[in-house]
Amino acid sequence: MNVLGIETSCDETAAAVVRDGTYLLSNVIASQVDIHSRYGGVVPEVASRQHLLAAIPIIQQAMSGASAGWGDVDAIAVTIGPGLAGSLLVGVNVAKAIALARGLPFIGVNHLEAHIYANWLEGEQPQFPVVCLTVSGGHTDLMLMKGHGEYHTLGRTRDDAAGEAFDKVARILGLGYPGGPAIEQAALGGDGSLHPLPRAWLKGTDDFSFSGLKTAVLHLVQENEGIAAADVAASFQESVVDVLVAKTVDAATRLQARQVLLCGGVASNQALRHAMTERSPLPVHVPSPLLCTDNAAMTASCGYFRIQAGESSGWDLDVEPNLRLA
Ligand code: KG4
Ligand code: ZN
Repeated sequence: MNVLGIETSCDETAAAVVRDGTYLLSNVIASQVDIHSRYGGVVPEVASRQHLLAAIPIIQQAMSGASAGWGDVDAIAVTIGPGLAGSLLVGVNVAKAIALARGLPFIGVNHLEAHIYANWLEGEQPQFPVVCLTVSGGHTDLMLMKGHGEYHTLGRTRDDAAGEAFDKVARILGLGYPGGPAIEQAALGGDGSLHPLPRAWLKGTDDFSFSGLKTAVLHLVQENEGIAAADVAASFQESVVDVLVAKTVDAATRLQARQVLLCGGVASNQALRHAMTERSPLPVHVPSPLLCTDNAAMTASCGYFRIQAGESSGWDLDVEPNLRLA
């Protein structure tokens, strides 16, 4: 079964064709980062207008990249949330229009669930039960997944998401937008041991907290004029990685999971990937960086497994900007 995935939840217009939920036939992503970077963050109205311009050409590229005609597509999967309402609306309406014109079934997909399914697109298939850490711009969720579509939330951030903390600290350090890759790059040339930063362990829970760390960075920078941004970036990244890895490994061993899965934009961070792999006694599955950040291949994969479970959407499908998972 070939599924066309469409993803427009934030600032990437993406389309992909995936066979049987696991085999990538094409994966096309148009980033709007250059347009939003001059504002220091995503401007929602600008994002939806860009999606309108990019959606059809990107879908056409995904189809030709997969050497697929419409007769080769069996279903459409589209992100319905969480995300920016205006951006999501573009994807959902394009998906419905194609579904109507071509007589195809379609399914609305939760973007957070889709991030998890990036783990089904490469390498060996994950073995349940897994403990999955989703770290993106808006979420830091630790979940136990016992089977397809079976989620139990263990913990989540009580304030800033991990990606949000990267973005805010990058701004404090004047490293630009998006913050995650900028901090990772700066940290390569820094010494994280020069300015130790705190870790919020929230012992006895699987929850996270990053706003205190962000405030500690702010004070450190304000009180030490001329401090090297690279050293602060390295120390900040060490603190975030330490907490994410320790709490994920603790939960996975405690719950006797078979594997640890990582996903979401922050999972493209090499320091996090290395530390998780080094410190986990269980096998760690993490998608390649291009499948960690927003893409439509994960949407197509997730949609495939929902369709396999007997689900589909109707014409009343709508966007759900605040959608949650479990
Ligand atoms: O999953 P994603 O692409 O979009 C959302 O669903 O939010 O995640 C975007 C977030 C941003 O906060 C970005 O700064 C962060 O992921 N990010 C990174 C890296 N690449 C992206 N954070 C740390 N290191 C990176 N290399
Ligand atoms: Zn995302």
